[in-house]
Amino acid sequence: MKKVILLLSVVLLSGATFGAEVNIVPKPLSVTLREGSFHVTSQTKIDFGKSAELRRSAEIFAEAVAPVVGGVMKSGSQGAISLTVDPSLETEAYTLEVTPERIAIRGGSAQGVFYGLQSLRQMIVDGQGTIPAVSIEDKPYFGYRGGMLDPCRHFWTVDEVKEYIDILAMHKMNRFHWHLTEDQGWRIEIKRYPELTRVGSIRKETLVGQYMHSNEYDKTPYGGYYTQKEIREVVKYAAERFITVIPEIELPGHAVAALASYPWLGCRGEGYEVRTTWGISSEVYCPGKETTFEFLENVLSEVIELFPSKYIHIGGDECPKESWKSCPLCQQRIKDEGLKDEYELQSYTIHRIEKWLRDHGREIIGWDEILEGGVSKTATVMSWRGSSGGIAAAKAGNHVIMTPNTHCYLDYYQTSTPVYEPQGIGGFLPVSRVYALDPYDHLNDTERSYILGVQANLWTEYIATFTHVKHMLLPRLAAVAEVGWSYDRKDFEDFRHRMKSLRKSYDAAGINYATYFFDNLDEVKQEK
Ligand code: ACM
Ligand code: ZN
Repeated sequence: MKKVILLLSVVLLSGATFGAEVNIVPKPLSVTLREGSFHVTSQTKIDFGKSAELRRSAEIFAEAVAPVVGGVMKSGSQGAISLTVDPSLETEAYTLEVTPERIAIRGGSAQGVFYGLQSLRQMIVDGQGTIPAVSIEDKPYFGYRGGMLDPCRHFWTVDEVKEYIDILAMHKMNRFHWHLTEDQGWRIEIKRYPELTRVGSIRKETLVGQYMHSNEYDKTPYGGYYTQKEIREVVKYAAERFITVIPEIELPGHAVAALASYPWLGCRGEGYEVRTTWGISSEVYCPGKETTFEFLENVLSEVIELFPSKYIHIGGDECPKESWKSCPLCQQRIKDEGLKDEYELQSYTIHRIEKWLRDHGREIIGWDEILEGGVSKTATVMSWRGSSGGIAAAKAGNHVIMTPNTHCYLDYYQTSTPVYEPQGIGGFLPVSRVYALDPYDHLNDTERSYILGVQANLWTEYIATFTHVKHMLLPRLAAVAEVGWSYDRKDFEDFRHRMKSLRKSYDAAGINYATYFFDNLDEVKQEK
């Protein structure tokens, strides 16, 4: 009762319309309800001033809300919805003012305006066009808010990749990490090395069932790759949604598809085929040969032409050292360079590639294994084997992106009774656990300043359709987005309430998602 009286008096004092609510995910910095409401229809116009960037954002927004407002809103140099860049705000920040007469979005940049439009989109869908008068101030906590997709284990078309990017954008995420090379398939056209896609993009068959338990294969060739033209198209599509695409070119491990294409890249020099099962291969690039570095640098030359991203992800994870131990050229390299062991040979490889990329104006991100054998100060570490690698890196003064498998591996099962889920890789990662991620765990204030942000990872060994991708991604991506955007104002019960509204945006956009969380079934044991 006390709570009700308190709520009533707050509502009356502020003069807000009774019962009005603003439910936005990720949670804004402040929301102040005012009196009255605004009704958006297809006749409402969007004023973008003279900016081509704002015009494109207005068009993207108008398309997204069209099914709810009954048509595509027009935009021009006049309108009840005004979009303005206000450099006094931080780059990604925005304010959103709704009165019964008009709606004004001001962003620190066009990117900030875009985020204001995402909030407005959620409110419009939630209220079927009617939105309460409100003043919103908002800005993200972390600067890096990413989502990774693996098109190597299973391939995703350009349209599917664009839909993944749309989903990131509606959650105010700003990085798309595209994992383009793997043991099971090379997915990026490299003009200088046509065999990478002619041979390396196709595996002769694929394991059926669970790795470790199955030795049945489907006897069906499987492949796909992105042409450079398609990659440019995706990079542009993402940029219009203020998402930077970070390509990952894996080295020195996870390279079997490259070795199958050009066998001289491996220590043994022959007998490789694109991997047909999951797990880790002991066949890796041979860093004993100069020709391997020449190849990698030539590949990266084409990669940096395609991707304007400051960061290039070079992998670095899960690289078994057996082949290097028995390779005379690798052993010679260890001797010549005064390296202690094969771990130092791995860091020699990473450092050399990092130097090449730095000489070409780029920086590297690597999985946390790059810490083993010594890491340069300028490498950014992506912590995936839990948070410990990220914690160690931050303590050493390296930048870190937190994507621990304990919280961010969205290929893990999302219910405690996975018999009701499609086959998956294992694990148990319900929404609440994702939400509980604390990227600052075990770090003091100085160390915290090295944490750039967070990322959701979606590996696809056991995900063969894009419907299944979305089933794994949503709604858990919303929890990662809220850690990234709203770390300083996280509140799980409040999130649960606001998610009912975001769910309507998924429905309006026709995006499928898992319902376990909404039905409160993710954490209860169900009878089989
Ligand atoms: C990874 O999951 N191997 C980065
Ligand atoms: Zn070798």
